[in-house]
Amino acid sequence: MTNTFDHVAVLGTGVIGASWASLFLAKGYHVNAYDPAPDSEPATRSYIETAWKQLQELGQVSVDFDPKRLRFFDTPEDTVKGVQFIQENVPEKLPIKTELYSRIETSIAPEAVIATSASGLLIKDLQKGFRNPSRFLLGHPFNPPHLIPLVELLGNDLTDEEAITFAKGFYESCGKVTIRVHKEVPAHVANRLQAAVWREAIYLATEGVASVEDIDKAMTAGPGLRWSVMGPHMLFGLGSGGGGMSTFCARYGDSFHRWWDSLGSVQLNPETIEILVEGLKSEEKGRNFADLAQERDRKLIAVLKALDDASE
Ligand SMILES: NC(=O)c1ccc[n+]([C@@H]2O[C@H](COP(=O)([O-])OP(=O)(O)OC[C@H]3O[C@@H](n4cnc5c(N)ncnc54)[C@H](O)[C@@H]3O)[C@@H](O)[C@H]2O)c1
Repeated sequence: MTNTFDHVAVLGTGVIGASWASLFLAKGYHVNAYDPAPDSEPATRSYIETAWKQLQELGQVSVDFDPKRLRFFDTPEDTVKGVQFIQENVPEKLPIKTELYSRIETSIAPEAVIATSASGLLIKDLQKGFRNPSRFLLGHPFNPPHLIPLVELLGNDLTDEEAITFAKGFYESCGKVTIRVHKEVPAHVANRLQAAVWREAIYLATEGVASVEDIDKAMTAGPGLRWSVMGPHMLFGLGSGGGGMSTFCARYGDSFHRWWDSLGSVQLNPETIEILVEGLKSEEKGRNFADLAQERDRKLIAVLKALDDASE
């Protein structure tokens, strides 16, 4: 199968679905959408207006804006008819997802691929929604998918390898960076990395080692900057001064073992949450949600543009 199709479906147009729809439209696809929330269509169209400008700034728009290329349907069955790629983004609840899958399965073209954005549910549980799950896989994005390049791909022994190859080609043609997850573990790869860092960030805050604001600053002014350029393995390989990873491990292995032994374990209990809420309030300095989200996206776009320039 080649990527010559022109219709895709987006099921669920909340935080993630609206962002996916923006990207697919910008890449020239017709997008069929379904979301039972009463205001889903106007909310999605309004989201796309903002996202479109951001994608334009990133040079990620391949076609002129045409609102008619987004079409909302009244049923999920009609939404998926005749499309070759379906991105499912309904709430992270197993019964909602599996019920939807069994509802649409007979309306999906046999060669179509269906990918779920699910962050934490297991593929083997989600597959139970299909009589034949061979064209179903995980295509897990990072919020917001129209800006953050990463998509994690995962299938298992019930998944047709060709479906994964097709999804990889499709996402990459939309400018995404894919990774293959070979073994099912909760939260895949990137969210596990985030969870590990956040656990220690919370531990440092609750132990009073530094304020919430300073812990965030330590990340954005330090490792976070480097991690947008290279991953931890490559960076520590470079930290060897030339001898590579074995030199780095010989030099710093004992330190890391001591540090790992001292890492904290936390619970999001009311006391911990109170420390985080108060700490964040102070870090926000009166800025509201919309201002902060705008600042995040503006800076993300600047970083993405700079990285793109640097890779040329
Ligand atoms: N928010 C994130 O940061 C993030 C990141 C990556 C992946 N995800 C995953 O993406 C999926 C969607 O998350 P979200 O944050 O967009 O949630 P959301 O609540 O913002 O959106 C879910 C949408 O699905 C709609 N919906 C409910 N039932 C439906 C049905 N039967 N058919 C079609 N639509 C239905 C809701 O009306 C809502 O608009 C989840 O599986 C989540 O784990 C979320």
